[in-house]
Amino acid sequence: LRANVPNSMRGRALHVGGALWRAFADLATVVRTGHPMPSLATGSTGFEEMQRDPARLHAFQLSMAESSRRAAADVIAAYDFGRFAHVMDVGGGYGALLAAILEAFPKLQGTVLDLPYLSAGAGEYLANSGSAKRARFVSGDFFRAVPVGADCYLLKFIIHDWDDERSLQILNNCRIAAGANGVVAIVERIVPDHVIQSNAHCEVIRGDLTMMAYGGTERTEAQYRELLAKAGLRLSAIAHTTGVFSIIEARAERS
Ligand SMILES: C[S@@+](CC[C@H](N)C(=O)[O-])C[C@H]1O[C@@H](n2cnc3c(N)ncnc32)[C@H](O)[C@@H]1O
Repeated sequence: LRANVPNSMRGRALHVGGALWRAFADLATVVRTGHPMPSLATGSTGFEEMQRDPARLHAFQLSMAESSRRAAADVIAAYDFGRFAHVMDVGGGYGALLAAILEAFPKLQGTVLDLPYLSAGAGEYLANSGSAKRARFVSGDFFRAVPVGADCYLLKFIIHDWDDERSLQILNNCRIAAGANGVVAIVERIVPDHVIQSNAHCEVIRGDLTMMAYGGTERTEAQYRELLAKAGLRLSAIAHTTGVFSIIEARAERS
């Protein structure tokens, strides 16, 4: 790759031209068998696989950081993070979205929660961001627990990675951590009820095919509403960005 291409774009090229390309090559087998691509080969999830391959993990995380960096301005314009004191980016990867939000809101504190394998990479990314003093990384497993202490639990490109059963475990843990007054803010591409021929809809459907290959799924607004209700959460607002992402805000159901 050319020397003047930023690292995050190199990561994106390596991820798209490597693992993602192979996933699409196996799409027909995924459809025939109903099993996602990584488990077809090894029986383990894509994230477990990446743990064993640091170069692939780094390319994937740089690719995610590039996607988050590009989406950040739209997300920040559509949703007011300034009303919170502490945002926790759950499964935040290297923390690119959180770093951009912290730069936009100078009083905000932030935490990236992700698996221990990202401690060094995320630590370095955050240390080089403009908001290093207000950002930290904590390692943990969102299927087991999500730490308390934030008033906004941000989930970008997390729920679409998992089926309903696994998604409910993550959402339940976020609801417990957020308590009665916190919010859960899901940043995803919502599948439209009626798909038309447009670039935006094409991107959502391409995303859905990708997630199908990996064992996840994109969802409609009704599907998010139903999933949140099962996790004891109420969909309180949806902010649509001018790009493909929406922010689905949820709060604990009042008992
Ligand atoms: C598709 S990436 C999204 C990264 C980031 N939110 C973004 O959009 O740029 C999913 C993230 O979930 C993390 N993850 C997967 N399983 C996890 C677990 N059990 N606990 C915490 N994080 C996990 C992965 O390491 C990865 O960083």
